[in-house]
Amino acid sequence: MDMILFISLLSILLFLLIIFHIRALCHRRNLPPGPRGLPIFGNLFDIGPRPHESLANLAKVHGPLMTIKQGNVTSVVVSSPEMARQVLQKQDEAFSGRVVPNAITELEHSSHAVAWLPIGEEWRLIRRVLGSCLINSKTLDMLRGIRQDVVQEMVHHVREVCTKGGTVGINRTAFTTIMNMMSRTCFSANVDEYELGNENGFRNAVTSIMKLTAKFDIADYFPCVKCMDPQRARQNAKAAYGCLEQLCDHFIDQRQKQRNSGLTRHGDILDALLDFSLENQSDFYLKHIQVLLVELFLAGTDTSTITTEWALAELISHPQMMLKLRDEICETVRKEGTIEETEILRLPYLQAVVKETMRLHLAVPFLVPHKTEKDVKINDYILPKNTQVLVNAWAIARDSNTWDKPACFMPERFLQNEIEFKGQHFSFLPFGSGRRMCPGMPLAHRVVSLMIASLVYHFEWKLPNGSTEPVDMSETFSLTLQKAKPLVAVPKMARP
Ligand code: HEM
Repeated sequence: MDMILFISLLSILLFLLIIFHIRALCHRRNLPPGPRGLPIFGNLFDIGPRPHESLANLAKVHGPLMTIKQGNVTSVVVSSPEMARQVLQKQDEAFSGRVVPNAITELEHSSHAVAWLPIGEEWRLIRRVLGSCLINSKTLDMLRGIRQDVVQEMVHHVREVCTKGGTVGINRTAFTTIMNMMSRTCFSANVDEYELGNENGFRNAVTSIMKLTAKFDIADYFPCVKCMDPQRARQNAKAAYGCLEQLCDHFIDQRQKQRNSGLTRHGDILDALLDFSLENQSDFYLKHIQVLLVELFLAGTDTSTITTEWALAELISHPQMMLKLRDEICETVRKEGTIEETEILRLPYLQAVVKETMRLHLAVPFLVPHKTEKDVKINDYILPKNTQVLVNAWAIARDSNTWDKPACFMPERFLQNEIEFKGQHFSFLPFGSGRRMCPGMPLAHRVVSLMIASLVYHFEWKLPNGSTEPVDMSETFSLTLQKAKPLVAVPKMARP
C-alpha cells in the first residue's frame, strides 16, 4: 500500500514537473534568449552572490537583452546603453511598474511609498510633494546652511580624532553625517552621534531595514510558498519598519502639538509637509508624511554613504589624485576653513572624482527592479505583462565598448567628455533615468560633493599602522554595492 502511495505521489510530482517545464518553454517562446536553467529552480544557481557580475558575464554570451528564470519569476536583464534607452526612455511608461518584495507586501508602507507605488495618481502626488517641499533648487539652496553645519560637525569630530591620534571608520562617519543632515532637514534635530550611543535610535532602525531587504527570500521566487512566509521575512519587516515609523511618529506628534499651541514654526520639511497635508487633507494625510519620512531616510542615507566611502578609498589608493583634488579645492576656498557648496559644485576635478566614483562603484548596481505594465514589444521580442526588468547599470558602466579601461579609476575621463548622471546618458545611470529616476539626485549630488571635498581639504589620510598595502577594494552585494571591508583610515590635519 505504501509503495502504491509512493509511486502515485512520484507520478503526480513528475507530471507537475513536465507541465511546469512545458509551460516555461511556451512562455519563453517570444522572450529574449538566455541561459538554460534547471527545472523548477531556473537560473537561480547561475547567479550566485555577485549577481551584477555573473549577469554581466552571461550577457556577453546571450546579449544585452537576456531572459533569466529565478524559480517562478521570469526576468529580462538589460545590459547595454541602447537597451536601457529603449526601456527607460522610449517605452518608459510600459516599463515603469515595480515588483514589491514579499517582505514588505503586507506593510502599509508599500501601499504609499513612492518607490513601490505603481505610476498613478498617488505616485504623481507624492513625487509632486517631494518636488515642491524638498527637491527644488530654491529649497535646496535655502537648506544649504544645514548641510554646511552638519558637515562642520563631522570635521570637528575628525579633528578630535586627529588630536587623539585615532582612526576613522569612513562609512560610519559618513552615515552619521548624512543621517543628521536628513533629520535636520526634515525635523530640525540631530538623530545620530559620532561616538558610540544611540543604539536604539535611527541608525539601528535604518540599518536593520537595510539588512532585512538585502536578504535572499525564497518567497520572492516561489509565490506558492508566500503564504507560509518560510523565512519570516514579513514578520521581521513589520518589526523593523515599525521601529523606524515610531521614531518618525514621535517627531510628527511633537510638531503637531507645538503647532496647535502656537509655538514658532521651524520652517523645515515637516512643517512644509504638514502645511501641504492641511491643504490637501483628502489626498495626503499623516500616514503619507510618515511613509515619506521613512522613505527619505532609507533611500538617501546608505547610497550617499557608500559613494563617499568608495571615493575616499579610491583617493587613498591614488595619492596623486588626492593631492590634485586638494589643490583644486584650496584654490577656491577663500575664507580659510569654509567650503562653500556653491563653489565646489563648479570644481571640474572634484566633479570628475564624484562621477568616476559613481561609475566604477555604483551604489545601486541594478536599478530598483522595474516591471512591465502590459505586454511590450522590444527588439522583436514580446515581454508579457508583469515581467521583472533588471537594468544592470553596473555592467553598462563597465562596458568596454563605451568606456576606455573600464575597470580603472580615472576621473580624467570625465574632464574630456560631457557625460552627466542626469538620465540623458544611457552609458552612465547611477540614478536611473525616465519617470522612475531617483528624485533625490540633486540633494545626493550636493551632499556627496560637500562631504568628499571637506574630508580631502581638511585632512590628509593614511591607512592604519603605516600600511602601504593597496586598499582592499572588494565589494559585497546586498541591493546596494558596499565595500566588503569598511574603510578605516588615519586622519592628519592638513591645516590648523
Ligand atoms: C548617491 C546617492 C543616491 C543614489 C546613487 C541613488 C540611486 C537611485 C536609483 C538607482 C534609483 C532607482 C531608479 C529606477 O528605478 O529607475 C533611486 C530611486 C529613488 N531614490 Fe535615490 N539615490 C540616491 C540618493 C537618494 C536621496 C538622497 C533620496 C531622497 C532624498 C533618494 C530617493 C529616492 C526615491 C524616493 C526613489 C524611488 C523613485 C520612484 O520609484 O519613483 N535617493 N535612487
